Amino acid sequence: MTAIALDAPHHIRDLGLADEGKRRTEWAERSMPVLRQIRERFRREQPLAGRRVSCCLHVTTETANLMITLRAAGADIALCASNPLSTQDDVAAHLVRDHGVHVYAIKGEDHETYYTHLAQALAFGPDLTQDDGADLVSALVMTSLGRLDDLAPPIRAMVEAMSPEEREALVGRVRGSTEETTTGVIRLKAMAQQGLVRFPIIAVNDSRTKHLFDNRYGTGQSTLDGIIRATNMLIAGSTVVVAGYGWCGRGFAMRARGAGATVIVTEVEPVVALEAKMDGFEVMPMAEAAPRGDLFCTLTGNMHVIRREHFAAMKDGAIVCNSGHFNVELDLETLATMATVRRAVRDFVEEFEVNGKRILVLGEGRLINLASAEGHPASVMDMSFANQALAAEYLVVNEATLERKVHTLPASVDNEIASLKLASMGARIDTLTPEQVTYLASWDAGT
Ligand SMILES: NC(=O)c1ccc[n+]([C@@H]2O[C@H](COP(=O)([O-])OP(=O)(O)OC[C@H]3O[C@@H](n4cnc5c(N)ncnc54)[C@H](O)[C@@H]3O)[C@@H](O)[C@H]2O)c1
Repeated sequence: MTAIALDAPHHIRDLGLADEGKRRTEWAERSMPVLRQIRERFRREQPLAGRRVSCCLHVTTETANLMITLRAAGADIALCASNPLSTQDDVAAHLVRDHGVHVYAIKGEDHETYYTHLAQALAFGPDLTQDDGADLVSALVMTSLGRLDDLAPPIRAMVEAMSPEEREALVGRVRGSTEETTTGVIRLKAMAQQGLVRFPIIAVNDSRTKHLFDNRYGTGQSTLDGIIRATNMLIAGSTVVVAGYGWCGRGFAMRARGAGATVIVTEVEPVVALEAKMDGFEVMPMAEAAPRGDLFCTLTGNMHVIRREHFAAMKDGAIVCNSGHFNVELDLETLATMATVRRAVRDFVEEFEVNGKRILVLGEGRLINLASAEGHPASVMDMSFANQALAAEYLVVNEATLERKVHTLPASVDNEIASLKLASMGARIDTLTPEQVTYLASWDAGT
């Protein structure tokens, strides 16, 4: 077990990087007008005064702006990473030095350190949690069920050292949680269905101002950006295979086509596959796409979408990566057993030699847009994190009445965020006339 004290105020790479982190966080802030407005209101109204919030999010410049907003609202914060490769060490340093956030995150941290950092965020004793992949809530649920064998060793060690009363106090203190991503929401809904959720959870991903923009335009652009930064490959003229045509997949397929690629989509849902077909993409099973692709990217939230038979059929030099939440979409364990030679050929690029052919895996199969690039642009995270900030406030304001289940923020919040974003972009829209309001609410007019 890594010797890191659970109550250490922070555990980061280097506090000396704080100036650079501050400069870059301020750069992101320029593109986050909606969050800025919420921050100003929070500063006046202090909706999170005295609350402790533990967050497990990608430690990026955009997240820094969310953390600063929660601090402005009066919260004390612990922050750990939701992925071992996505941390920006300078941002971590800035949050510690200039905003008093307890950050536990180091880019490239090993498995054990990653979970030690999660344990530190839990040991903070949160009233609220914010997750990107349900890691904190999962650990709390496993703790309350006494399923300590299912906890990662550093978290297990922490829980085992607690008395039953202390464990109950840790879980019982949490008044609510927010969840950022599709995969996390799926897990939390499964937990809720089994009656295991002990506090209300807001599925931020289910807000329309989140998934329609972050997943589609954010993932679309930043995934392509990550691939290009890792490889410097020319997209034009290449064949790109996109696994999954959900919000992320369609965003990436759209951008790959825009960059001049021939795009093939693989899917398992007939209606979604039909949309891809009618959007003008080739649609086929992965087994047929495998020998054709120059670049493969999985965005499904599912496991082993690219596996042994697909790797075996790929052409020499095929590039494979993932932009779905967990690093399980590519069966890299099997690829490792198939390979006779395995070596790093460039930052974020590992080459596997299989039957004399080279397969190049990017970013260890982890979210490529965060591993080799900077994640989503700030302008799109402006809306996602406006939802996160308002969700935290919503949980506190409605604490007495909210059911212990997975909730979506009301449509009025979505509309407010969209209106603020439109205004910041200088776009205005029409409003319904009284006559139109009546017409839309009637069944007998105009027939
Ligand atoms: N890279 C990022 O920054 C980022 C951002 C947002 C979401 N995500 C993650 O990306 C993943 C996808 O999110 P989404 O919002 O697009 O989800 P989604 O549910 O809208 O889409 C996923 C699609 O994958 C398809 N699918 C499932 N199994 C498949 C298989 N074996 N082969 C082909 N297709 C398959 C599903 O039918 C579905 O259409 C999730 O894990 C999510 O958490 C990543």
